[in-house]
Amino acid sequence: MLGERILLGPGPSLVPPEVTAAMAAPMVGHMDPDLFPVLEETARLLRQVFQTANELTLAVSGTGTAGMEATLLHMVKPGERLVVCSAGFFADRLIEIGGRIGAEVVRVEAAWGRPIDPADLERALGRLGGGRTTVAAVHVETSTGVLHPIADLARVAHAHDAAILVDAVASLGGADLPTDAWDLDACYSGSQKCLSAPPGMAPVTVHTRTRGRFRPATFYLDLEGLWTYWGAPHGYHHTVPVSLVYAMREALRLVAAEGLPARVERHRRMTRALWAGLEAMGLELLVPEPHRSPTITTVRIPAGADDAKVRTRLLREYSIEIAGGLGPLRGQIWRIGLMGYSCQPKWVLALLGALEAVLTAEGVRLPKGDAARAAAARL
Ligand SMILES: Cc1ncc(COP(=O)(O)O)c(C=O)c1O
Repeated sequence: MLGERILLGPGPSLVPPEVTAAMAAPMVGHMDPDLFPVLEETARLLRQVFQTANELTLAVSGTGTAGMEATLLHMVKPGERLVVCSAGFFADRLIEIGGRIGAEVVRVEAAWGRPIDPADLERALGRLGGGRTTVAAVHVETSTGVLHPIADLARVAHAHDAAILVDAVASLGGADLPTDAWDLDACYSGSQKCLSAPPGMAPVTVHTRTRGRFRPATFYLDLEGLWTYWGAPHGYHHTVPVSLVYAMREALRLVAAEGLPARVERHRRMTRALWAGLEAMGLELLVPEPHRSPTITTVRIPAGADDAKVRTRLLREYSIEIAGGLGPLRGQIWRIGLMGYSCQPKWVLALLGALEAVLTAEGVRLPKGDAARAAAARL
């Protein structure tokens, strides 16, 4: 067994003991009638966290990318137009999958570390001709730490009769995501970030108006096919990972017990405290404050610090995992996640203390001892 880790990267996050215990429940068959109420409760709790009344709401067997692929395949027919709001690594993955589906992919871009401007989407949609269009956008772009303005992007998309598909892998259960109030056509997430279940399930919800348009070229990720299992009368589709379903249900019960508004506020408060601590240490955050995600923080690597060496020391000496940058931000930033069960005052202070100790040991000059005090004042 590997040693214990304090997971403060961009996911997976720490898993609460109740969720770990749920996975140890005795195995039952995927067609056991006693499992069906578990599926139904999981779907009901998922609707709560997505803030939706959408019937077709379930957890795909697979990680966030399976949710991405399933919703894209559900929404976009080969030859149809897919407009991707692109400002990071995971938007690029939407572009990659859209291309493989055979969609006509159009990009609306912003610099990595900056939000998509809804006026740019407006202009792009205005330039395009008729034909069905789906806009895809990432709510929290994990590669940059930007919280993109989904409500505004959805409004623009609908004004142009386009559908909108949203990646909420790094936001569901940690940032406010009112699927119905924002009138989203489809949304997907992952189990392992703000929901704090293990990796392996991808929550998905789709609006009734997107259903029954066509049969996608996938069996395993066909959401209507999956719904024949998740919804009554629960016909066989594939053998779901039963232990992960138990974990998912338990994680969602914990979200419900905490209350979604309280949970969102906890993420906001802890993450603001982290920003205060990092800035008190003299470090610079990548994203301007109004656009920062409350779940993942990106901080510039200070001059004189060796990216890999600092992260390795945090892991080996303090058991703390944070992540480096992706794509053009590799070697430029660190990514720190405070998500779900990892989002606690003790871990904010532990990280600030450990980072200060490692940077000082590496010879990086910092204003001494202010980080914990600045963070604690906001916890
Ligand atoms: C915003 C976003 N989308 C999609 C993914 C892909 O999810 P997974 O790695 O679980 O397949 C991630 C993973 O970090 C993500 O952060």
